[in-house]
Amino acid sequence: MPCQTISGERTSLVRKAVPEDAPKVNIYFGNLKAEGLPWFSGFAESAEACSEFIERSLRAPDRSLVLIAEVGTDVVGFLNCRRLDFMCPSASDLQHVSVRRIYRNKGLGDALMTSLLEWARSSGLRELTAAVHVKNQGAQRFLCRFKFKKETLPGGSPDYRHFLLELNGSVAEEAV
Ligand SMILES: CC(C)(COP(=O)(O)OP(=O)(O)OC[C@H]1O[C@@H](n2cnc3c(N)ncnc32)[C@H](O)[C@@H]1OP(=O)(O)O)[C@@H](O)C(=O)NCCC(=O)NCCS
Repeated sequence: MPCQTISGERTSLVRKAVPEDAPKVNIYFGNLKAEGLPWFSGFAESAEACSEFIERSLRAPDRSLVLIAEVGTDVVGFLNCRRLDFMCPSASDLQHVSVRRIYRNKGLGDALMTSLLEWARSSGLRELTAAVHVKNQGAQRFLCRFKFKKETLPGGSPDYRHFLLELNGSVAEEAV
């Protein structure tokens, strides 16, 4: 997992979340909401719900990923991804990636995405998908930096742009 030095001296660490992180993840989402993201539809409503969510992802480590970026003991960034078996067993959906406003443009989003891509490749995933609100141009640019391509989904909501990243083969195949 990458470490990122930001603001000169402060170091941010990206790591997988554990259930004990739930109270500070809950505070993170409270802060994010207060910062006002027009397309932010909320997340876990309580520390208990956060804890349950993280535990679920840890019970299926090849299927779901929850990452946090920390500065000191504060959570300042979050990412979660989960497999959508009903669509494609080798695809995972990036459901949320965000960084606290004052910590943006310092490479933390990049560090979260780099960890996601490492995990996706080592889990043998073939595709990552994401849906971004049409008005969220910054996030669309952000995904394109990681080679996500826009795709058209029949029947997809007109409010969201759908993105797809094709990964090069699975680890299992490469090892053969
Ligand atoms: C999208 C988001 C997660 C990006 O996080 P971030 O930490 O700002 O991302 P990065 O710092 O890695 O990159 C952002 C920009 O900073 C630049 N940057 C990267 N490292 C940098 C550094 N050390 N110093 C200055 N700038 C840097 C990048 O080039 C990039 O520029 P761009 O806007 O021209 O692409 C963040 O903007 C966010 O939380 N947005 C709101 C939530 C959201 O919309 N989420 C949906 C995403 S699908």
